[in-house]
Amino acid sequence: MSETVLITGASGLLGRALVDAFVRRGIPVLAQYHRRRGGERGNVRWLAGDFSSSRSTAAFLKRHAAALAECVHVIHNYGPIVQKDTAAVTGADLLAAFQVHLQPALDITRFLLAHARLRSALFVAFEHTGRLRSYRRILAYALAKNALPVLSRSLAASHPGIRFSVYSPPTLAGAAVQPPGARPVAPPAVAETIFRVFRRRSGGHFRRETAGGRQGRKHG
Ligand SMILES: NC(=O)c1ccc[n+]([C@@H]2O[C@H](COP(=O)([O-])OP(=O)(O)OC[C@H]3O[C@@H](n4cnc5c(N)ncnc54)[C@H](OP(=O)(O)O)[C@@H]3O)[C@@H](O)[C@H]2O)c1
Repeated sequence: MSETVLITGASGLLGRALVDAFVRRGIPVLAQYHRRRGGERGNVRWLAGDFSSSRSTAAFLKRHAAALAECVHVIHNYGPIVQKDTAAVTGADLLAAFQVHLQPALDITRFLLAHARLRSALFVAFEHTGRLRSYRRILAYALAKNALPVLSRSLAASHPGIRFSVYSPPTLAGAAVQPPGARPVAPPAVAETIFRVFRRRSGGHFRRETAGGRQGRKHG
């Protein structure tokens, strides 16, 4: 049975490493990009898509419906970061962050639940997802990313038999945003960890120190 996986944000820093990790294992990849289509290679099909609005996400789903119907796994990797001082953050910034980080993830998942034989969905969060703390520059991003475990857990409860996971990666080496004290990790190493999470039998919320071990937090 085909194992085809859809990877969003596949032309980005982590996305390219994820595509490599799956292709190396012979897994067919549907690779979403926005402006920078990746190179041609066997087992990869590049799908153009713009997730800046619900309407453009719907257009992506409609345009690629036949290819997406083949997909049994999805990795929601798309999720660009925007920085702004917390004192200047507005409600519109919060809405925009939810638009970026939740709307495409949810609408694509719902489409695949309805039109494909989805078996797993993995959401890429960030290092501090699930940890209570304050933010100076990335409050809107952090709030939206922190909603992903709730979304994942809730979908898991309403769709038993489908594996929903969240992975909280560390700062990537080469990323534009390098927080003070960050210990960046090379994207291929992060992609390998995500692949291990992808291969787990059960879902949950995982991070660097738990992904390979036994203490990954199961969804409640
Ligand atoms: N960077 C880090 O240090 C870090 C740390 C922790 C977690 N993360 C998370 O890891 C994931 C990947 O991060 P990254 O740094 O690898 O991302 P990135 O390099 O910024 O990649 C951005 C991706 O999103 C696509 N994209 C941009 N605008 C789009 C739009 N309007 N519609 C659809 N696609 C669009 C880009 O496509 P084109 O290039 O084709 O235009 C590209 O594939 C994100 O969820 C991020 O939050 C990142």
